[in-house]
Amino acid sequence: MAIAQPGLWKRHEFFEKNSILLLIGVLIVVAIGGLIEIVPLFYLKSTIEAVEGVRPYTPLELAGRNIYIREGCYLCHSQMIRPMRDEVERYGHFSLAAESLYDHPFQWGSKRTGPDLARVGAKYSDEWHREHLRDPRAVVPGSIMPAYAFLDRPLDADAIVDDLIANRQLGVPYSPEMIAWAQSDLRSQLDPDGAGGADLQKRYPGAVLHLPGSRSQVTELDALVAYLQVLGTMVDFKIYDDKQNLR
Ligand code: HEC
Repeated sequence: MAIAQPGLWKRHEFFEKNSILLLIGVLIVVAIGGLIEIVPLFYLKSTIEAVEGVRPYTPLELAGRNIYIREGCYLCHSQMIRPMRDEVERYGHFSLAAESLYDHPFQWGSKRTGPDLARVGAKYSDEWHREHLRDPRAVVPGSIMPAYAFLDRPLDADAIVDDLIANRQLGVPYSPEMIAWAQSDLRSQLDPDGAGGADLQKRYPGAVLHLPGSRSQVTELDALVAYLQVLGTMVDFKIYDDKQNLR
């Protein structure tokens, strides 16, 4: 094939023979590409699409989340289902950015010694989780997960109000009412027959009430189970699938 524009080759030869100029040229071209990608983001209020159903964690779930972080569960478990067929078939709908909207810090993780937990909520009963955390091998023979029987001790919830306030400062929409009722909401979530449950569910739509492990005190295990049971359950994907079918 004949070279159509010999003049252009000649001009390119100039760059090829002056590597510093070539480098500067490359930098200019990459900078233009970068600016086109990055600058529009500064004009967006949020890059995360709002999704129906995502709400801040209840005080009990937040306390459980703190234990999840303290115990380093993220070292063996991810919370991020990638949009690939093998993941979606195993774990369910891929994770949405909005589902981590109120996670400070997020728990996506980078290691899967155990399975992904992004949608473990409502997969098992509370009792299964309690048993599994106390002694994994009692319910999953051959499991290599460590036992967390020691979590059956009183939850230190003194700082839960401060936790909500700190999260609010990071942008989680905890209202003054949610903060004022935090201590009471924490207990109401473990009292399905009590009067506080309805108020809790008004403040945190869709919050599930759990049976406590013991009548006398809230334990760390109670909080951790409440957290595990909410994972991946906030968004009702049926609504979105139905909408898509309508199109
Ligand atoms: C040393 C790695 C390791 C650590 C640390 C660990 N796990 Fe696991 N986890 C596993 C493995 C392996 C499995 C799969 C076998 C089983 O179900 O026990 C598992 C399974 C699970 C499951 C069941 C998931 C499913 O879909 O069947 C849950 C829930 C869970 N872990 C929660 C936790 C929590 C909460 C913590 C922290 C308190 C934790 N794990 C810490 C390794 C770990």
